[in-house]
Amino acid sequence: MERAELLARCSDEPGRITRLYGTHAHASASGTLAGWMRAAGMSVGRDAIGNVIGRLEGERQDAPALLLGSHFDTVRDAGRWDGTLGVLVAIAVAEWLPAAGRRPSVPLEVVAFADEEGTRFGTAFLGSAVLAGRFDEADLGRVDAGGVSLRDAIREYGGDPTALGAAARAPGSLAGYVEVHIEQGPVLDESDVALGVVSAISGQTRAALRFSGVAGHAGTVPIELRHDALCAAADVVLAAEALSRETPGLVATVGRLTVLPGAPNVIPGSAELSLDVRHPEDAERAAAVSRLRERATEAAEARGAAVEWEELLDQPAVVCDAALSERMAQAVEGAGVRPATLPSGAGHDAAIMAAIAPVAMLFVRCADGVSHHPDEAVAEADVALAVDALAAFVEDFAP
Ligand code: HGY
Ligand code: MN
Ligand code: MN
Repeated sequence: MERAELLARCSDEPGRITRLYGTHAHASASGTLAGWMRAAGMSVGRDAIGNVIGRLEGERQDAPALLLGSHFDTVRDAGRWDGTLGVLVAIAVAEWLPAAGRRPSVPLEVVAFADEEGTRFGTAFLGSAVLAGRFDEADLGRVDAGGVSLRDAIREYGGDPTALGAAARAPGSLAGYVEVHIEQGPVLDESDVALGVVSAISGQTRAALRFSGVAGHAGTVPIELRHDALCAAADVVLAAEALSRETPGLVATVGRLTVLPGAPNVIPGSAELSLDVRHPEDAERAAAVSRLRERATEAAEARGAAVEWEELLDQPAVVCDAALSERMAQAVEGAGVRPATLPSGAGHDAAIMAAIAPVAMLFVRCADGVSHHPDEAVAEADVALAVDALAAFVEDFAP
């Protein structure tokens, strides 16, 4: 809990937690995490994108390693637990093992992924994509709000944009990837259960939409002669809400809207929005995305405006590994909790790691299910149970 407090102070913005990929605050958190891993007796390195990876040798040094972890970047004005909890619980377990005179059967690695939220570059999962060999080189050309490319950000951060491919782990080279995370929803809290084993992780699509109309005088151009880009964008915002209401399991969100030139007496000439679409079933998500794309085209045409649609992410849903999840459930029971089993509507690095390793996830109850918000909270007793469960899982782990 103290470490979470210390990491919360690594922020790009005073008075709130915002830790975006490659910033000073992010570098400072990276150094702090590496220090804690070293203090736990791990050998520590940073890979080409800046993932911090610690390693403890096991009984069988040449066996595939068991990887534990989560991410240490955040959304804007974040809470202190999303991502951070999984990294800190993993470090706590790695620290406890040698202190308790235990040695894992296989090498134990802890990863703190450098970017999962994608807040700075609009994508997501950059850290785990590199480790899983799923990084798309085209993403290096993406620019942040200040025009800095991901390629340059990686360099400035001390990474190497030309070595991302070489940082990948081969499929089958890990015995498993296990991630502890706050639930970020209300299910555990409402059912009064501290821990839950995740059955599957929903897929997600992210897209950037740019509407181009014509700016003009707010007092002189009659409504029927306007090409108002924001009005077209607004149609899509409401279409996303309406489609989510009528489609069970679908959640579509516009979280960012930029209107230009952005003056009260100027008709908006351009409007850019972010779209995030999720559903547990990939076919339903694809159908919703294509419906919203049609709506965007119709909304632009109705106003004599144009729309560009750039897809940033198309991450399929992932089912967690049955055998690893069963072991996790047993470890949780050993810690004295009858675990709930639940799907995750949030995206996680585990979904990316599933491409190269069996994955399991352990959810920790968070107060009122609040997340991506500064009020994110977990109970110390629940965190202790998660540490106990993960420690038992690792101790009993044999591939
Ligand atoms: O957006 C997500 O689902 C995750 O919190 N990155
Ligand atoms: Mn998040
Ligand atoms: Mn997260």
